[in-house]
Amino acid sequence: MGALHLFAPAKVNLVLEVLGQRPDGYHEIASVFAPLDFGDFLTLTLLEEPVVRLHVRGHAVPAGKENLAVRAALLLRERFGRRGGVRIDIEKRIPVGAGLGGGSSDAAAVLRGLNILWELGIPSEELAALGAELGSDVPYFLWDGFAWVGGRGERVEPFLPQGESPYRLLLVKPRASLATKDVFLRFRSRGFSRSDGSRSRKLREALCAGDWEALPELAANDLEGAAVDLLPEIAAVRETLKELGACAAFLTGSGPTYVGLFRGGEELSRAREALTRELPFVREATMVVRPFAGNTSLRK
Ligand code: C5P
Repeated sequence: MGALHLFAPAKVNLVLEVLGQRPDGYHEIASVFAPLDFGDFLTLTLLEEPVVRLHVRGHAVPAGKENLAVRAALLLRERFGRRGGVRIDIEKRIPVGAGLGGGSSDAAAVLRGLNILWELGIPSEELAALGAELGSDVPYFLWDGFAWVGGRGERVEPFLPQGESPYRLLLVKPRASLATKDVFLRFRSRGFSRSDGSRSRKLREALCAGDWEALPELAANDLEGAAVDLLPEIAAVRETLKELGACAAFLTGSGPTYVGLFRGGEELSRAREALTRELPFVREATMVVRPFAGNTSLRK
């Protein structure tokens, strides 16, 4: 029986704009996603018995069918009629309910991995459609690179930034977590203002031209007001990051993780030390700029 080791990166949203609500209840977004050098490690081992087993080390995750990685395996088995099972081992380093895409990235890794191990030969476009059934962020993770993302998350347009990012990131998550659904609900009920998608477009253009200086100016998240409404204490994280020298501090996904953007290593170390004393998850990371390994058929 075969086994496969996979890396499931975390992501940050450098810009997240909410354009409006769709007839299906989801929200139309425009966003720039960046992959990190930090993430979960998965091992998939094929089993003869028809079961999907999950073993997790590190951060606690939902068990059974609540878990997106398990659902990814069950979905493939059901659709493609595989008789055997799989054991999924996850070294869980990405916190859950953080806005870092951990669950979606694990699910995408399971889709990629089982496509290989079960020799299903599913083309990337179809794999992305299966991913979208599991969650809005899953199609993005089938790419693993910088991307402009639209629709409810299913439109993924990869791009390759020029030059090297001059920034190091500090990811800071308070003890509490947020459910994406609750944050979108609050966004709607409070009538927070909507965007036209121009910020995401501008950032993509700037990065494609190697203009990394534009990032601190353009980084922003329309869901921030709603997330702060639900967890008022996170506003202090943003202020602290700015006071400690971050050139920008913004929320990723639906939060509550804040991303501090630092140019200098010394400031970053000082900020990391200060915040580690107070908060349970403080982690340095770098954005990964590299060409896509994936199939270009996902381009729209
Ligand atoms: O797709 P996913 O299961 O990750 O989404 C969780 C919830 O977040 C959805 O049920 C929906 O309420 C909300 N959502 C949304 N618009 C999006 C993505 C998610 O309203 N683009």
